[in-house]
Amino acid sequence: MPAAVDPYRAIDREADPRRFARILEARGSQPNQTRLRRAFLSLAGVGAGMRVLDVGCGTGVVTRDVAARVGTGGVVVGVDPSRVLLAVARRRHRGAGPGARPTFRHGDGLGLPFPLASFDVTLAVTVLLHVPAGDRILGEMMRVTRPGGRVAVLDQDFGTFVLDVPDRALTRRIVDGHAEHFYAEPWSGRTLARRLRLAGLARVRSQAFVVVDQLYDDYVRSMLERRVELATRWRLVAAVDGRRWLRSAEAAAARGDFFMSLNYYGAVGVRP
Ligand SMILES: C[S@@+](CC[C@H](N)C(=O)[O-])C[C@H]1O[C@@H](n2cnc3c(N)ncnc32)[C@H](O)[C@@H]1O
Repeated sequence: MPAAVDPYRAIDREADPRRFARILEARGSQPNQTRLRRAFLSLAGVGAGMRVLDVGCGTGVVTRDVAARVGTGGVVVGVDPSRVLLAVARRRHRGAGPGARPTFRHGDGLGLPFPLASFDVTLAVTVLLHVPAGDRILGEMMRVTRPGGRVAVLDQDFGTFVLDVPDRALTRRIVDGHAEHFYAEPWSGRTLARRLRLAGLARVRSQAFVVVDQLYDDYVRSMLERRVELATRWRLVAAVDGRRWLRSAEAAAARGDFFMSLNYYGAVGVRP
């Protein structure tokens, strides 16, 4: 089996980096994702007039919500190592509503290009699970957060990815096999509160967010197709079984019975 490399570690080296911009925007526009972001930003305590950093901002889905939330008196910066995603973020923000005007900067979470104590709140949304040295990013987030400010992170936990399809053994091979080979830390969600405490943050709190998809829309279809495509390429399943699995999901959707769910976990702590 070839070594799998998570494309989110270096989007700009992919053959079609814009594909990932489309995926992030499609995910971000799902109503359940909008609700998830709102709840997470409340957990993080993002409010009017704050200075907020969004690490691994991608196309700026979260950054745009933060900008609306902090308002014109706030400061919002998005940082990401992908120049392609940053270009999309800048373009997308031009059409966004009122609020702070975010700045999008090229940079790596492993060495954030900001001085000590520059922000009130520092966020990373669905970033740490992709990065092998995620704890170094947490250390950097702490450094650039002011004493008394907050560091808040949100990740999926792919140990909680469930689908109501008949063939359980095949589902495990595809879903768990994909997660283990794709992500640096597929169970990242459940680790976050512990890692924030270990990093030295105080008063750490966490919250689970259960995202349920009962509509087999383009985003959900592409999510399942990518899993089958990669599980087949990595020889975790035969192509014929992968196709059969997708057909069973489509059949459930045609009956109005499609059910997919994934837990996200948020954690927030105070910089001493
Ligand atoms: C799944 S995307 C999430 C994007 C955005 N936070 C969102 O929720 O839409 C993961 C992001 O992490 C970025 N990333 C990967 N490695 C990184 C690193 N070392 N430091 C900061 N960001 C990184 C990727 O470029 C990508 O934009």
